[in-house]
Amino acid sequence: MTIKTQLIDGKAVAAQLRSEIKLQVSQLPYTPGLAVVLVGDDPASQVYVSHKIKACEEAGVASRLISLPADSSQTDLLAQVQALNQDSAVHGILVQMPLPAHMDAQAVIAAIAPHKDVDGFHVSNAGALMTGAPRLVPCTPLGVMKLLEVAGIALRGAHAVVVGASNIVGKPQALLLQAAGATVTICNSKTRDLQAHLKMADIVVAAVGKPNFITGDMLKAGAVVMDVGINRGADGKLCGDVNTASCMGIASAITPVPGGVGPMTIALLLSNTLKAAVLQ
Ligand code: GUN
Repeated sequence: MTIKTQLIDGKAVAAQLRSEIKLQVSQLPYTPGLAVVLVGDDPASQVYVSHKIKACEEAGVASRLISLPADSSQTDLLAQVQALNQDSAVHGILVQMPLPAHMDAQAVIAAIAPHKDVDGFHVSNAGALMTGAPRLVPCTPLGVMKLLEVAGIALRGAHAVVVGASNIVGKPQALLLQAAGATVTICNSKTRDLQAHLKMADIVVAAVGKPNFITGDMLKAGAVVMDVGINRGADGKLCGDVNTASCMGIASAITPVPGGVGPMTIALLLSNTLKAAVLQ
């Protein structure tokens, strides 16, 4: 039996969400503000940050980009975060990851006021999610949940396999799926016999950061595949953690890269900024 694989159009869902947010922002008596802090000159981070700033402009959110040189001290960065914590025009603070190796990312995240932590990375926000009373939740896993909802994928009782266990995606993703009633397995790039786990999955979320790591033959027929990876393949082209072509005819639905989960991350960042502003 050949399955017709649906390509989930994250770009379209994100555009719809962004227009809803823009309308809500326009109805506020003040302008929500987002500060984005970029340390160093990692080219991928520069691209992500420029997309975030552009999305703010389009949504009517006031954005401020703070670029610090790669050799800035941790003290400089912490002072910058403290100043943004105190600034009442700034409702959301995002420090783009990864930080240069000489910095302690956890200490920087801990310095962000939790109510301005639009990434949902602060331990108090991570803990709130874990204990079932989510406040600000990481944007990418929220974006995946939104795509699953729009695509009409039933989660209660489903078996979801999350490949990758980062604080940014894998761990919060597993908690969100679990809260929605799924049975969740968390794997990683070193999992022994990954295929045995994937063969049981109704839903696969791939967030390992390895190009074409998952192929169609590893999946159960009819699985829904959410590809969070943004990698450069051997040919220099953008590709996901999943080899999309090999999943056609096997998966029931899959997010493409680019145009799948990526645009959702930015839409949910705007949504979190609006949420943080309204809460303040
Ligand atoms: N690096 C990769 N993804 C993210 C994200 O969602 N937020 C931040 N701050 N850094 C990232």
